[in-house]
Amino acid sequence: MKKEKLRIAIQKSGRLNEDSLQILKDAGISIDNGKEQLKASARNFPVDVLYLRNGDIPQYLRDGVVDVAILGENVLVEKGKDIIRGEKLGFSKCRVSLAVPKSVRYNGIQDLEGKKIATSYPNTVKEYLAEKGITAELHIINGSVEIAPNIGLADAICDIVSSGSTLFKNNLKEAEVMLKSEAILAISPKISEERQQILDQLQFRIKSVLNART
Ligand code: PRP
Ligand code: MG
Repeated sequence: MKKEKLRIAIQKSGRLNEDSLQILKDAGISIDNGKEQLKASARNFPVDVLYLRNGDIPQYLRDGVVDVAILGENVLVEKGKDIIRGEKLGFSKCRVSLAVPKSVRYNGIQDLEGKKIATSYPNTVKEYLAEKGITAELHIINGSVEIAPNIGLADAICDIVSSGSTLFKNNLKEAEVMLKSEAILAISPKISEERQQILDQLQFRIKSVLNART
């Protein structure tokens, strides 16, 4: 019988990619080829690594095509509420925030009533505003969200804030922190018994790495 392998997804390119590979490496998993290849195997551990787009990963986990992923919590909040959460990994820390132009006086969330908000995180924003009893119009865009107020597309934006430099460069200020996020192990609700055993070993190793880092 063919030996079972665990399928792990990491971000193909972007801010999580390097730290994700590093934590696997620190866990003693050496991956064979570079990321030009979309799939790579480990030499010394029964795992295949798939390089995928962040936003696609929740669906792969849901379908059981991927067993486990290293992903920003913010992505799970936005479109992966049904995905099992494993260890928080301590890197890629960020906030998901609402921001408004620096020149605007901001007194509180009620100021956003009836306003236009540009975002790549519609579900997160909708939920947050609903909780606060605010109704706003959402414009969904996939990137460069912070430009929206400057070109008259929106009154406010909701996006990830890490260093704050993108907000700064676009003359925006953080108005509300909606959630704090970091990289996390995200586990498929459909993982098989055999692969769960491999995952247990991986999680054990990752926990040791995290302990050593603190
Ligand atoms: C991300 C995010 C913010 C920015 C936050 O964008 O969408 O715009 O980083 O980081 P900072 O606070 O350190 O500036 P990214 O550069 O990944 O590009 P994109 O929005 O076009 O995907
Ligand atoms: Mg951006």
